[in-house]
Amino acid sequence: MSNHSIPKFQERRKVGIVGFGHIGQYIYRELKNNDYGLDVAFVWNRSVDKLSGLQENEILHDLNQFFERNVDLIIEVAHISITEQFGAKFLSKCDFMVGSPTALANKDLEAQLYSAANNNGLYVPAGAFWGAEDIQKMASQGSLKALKVTMKKHPSSLKLNGELAEMVKNMSGETLVLYDGPVRDLCPLAPSNVNTMACAAIAASNLGFDKVQGCLVADKRLACHIIEIDVVGPSNNNGDCFTVRTVRTNPSQSGAVTGNETYASFLQSVKRARCKGPGVHLC
Ligand SMILES: NC(=O)c1ccc[n+]([C@@H]2O[C@H](COP(=O)([O-])OP(=O)(O)OC[C@H]3O[C@@H](n4cnc5c(N)ncnc54)[C@H](O)[C@@H]3O)[C@@H](O)[C@H]2O)c1
Repeated sequence: MSNHSIPKFQERRKVGIVGFGHIGQYIYRELKNNDYGLDVAFVWNRSVDKLSGLQENEILHDLNQFFERNVDLIIEVAHISITEQFGAKFLSKCDFMVGSPTALANKDLEAQLYSAANNNGLYVPAGAFWGAEDIQKMASQGSLKALKVTMKKHPSSLKLNGELAEMVKNMSGETLVLYDGPVRDLCPLAPSNVNTMACAAIAASNLGFDKVQGCLVADKRLACHIIEIDVVGPSNNNGDCFTVRTVRTNPSQSGAVTGNETYASFLQSVKRARCKGPGVHLC
């Protein structure tokens, strides 16, 4: 059978992995050990020592040369700075899955990437954001009126910047609300922890980063990551609102930024990041 007669959703795809930390290594192992129709064409990491176990032809030394590998999809699992520097460049050549979507809280970068997504697909992994598709549908209809995402974690699972880091350092009680407000302003303060909130802001396209609310709570009693999602829809003539509330409880090891189930969710997103064409897609 010639390649032309294979349906697009079954065609083999070449993938580049940018970042070889916890998630990057997990994705690499999964793609090497299973046939998902995805072949690893390159792996890049800031420090090359981490890549010592890989075959030389799998290693990309200079990320500026990514286009030489002719990949179909680049997966960023490193740091927001990669999306800042390379996101639009990647999208000019291939699909791009942004593993650190808090990067899009930067208004200029958000606009740049949405524009670059006219060329190829910008894929946003739903990660721990439960009900993403339903919320996206409500946003498209304009019936989504409010959305709040509350994340509760043990302080050792929080990687914070600025004033939030100080608040946790000086925390005396068992639990502390670190932030409660627009997701846009929280992302730079907790970029590694609130990807789920960034994903919510992207799904809730009629509200965006300024109107989706984020609440981050440090709780010393927790051995899990808790994510509560509160959706408000239209009201009837009596003023009664449509509401949905979900609570996701994900066991996590002490100090882990990412809960166990989120790895599996991330892999499913990688497998789904295909065939949607240009545009911004949750996967
Ligand atoms: N979307 C989601 O659901 C989700 C879930 C978990 C993690 N993440 C994000 O994915 C990324 C990777 O997570 P992880 O748990 O594998 O992290 P990790 O710390 O284990 O690995 C990060 C890797 O990126 C590299 N890196 C760190 N800072 C860098 C920089 N400034 N420039 C280039 N490379 C850099 C490190 O060398 C490391 O190999 C993080 O940004 C994290 O926030 C997203």
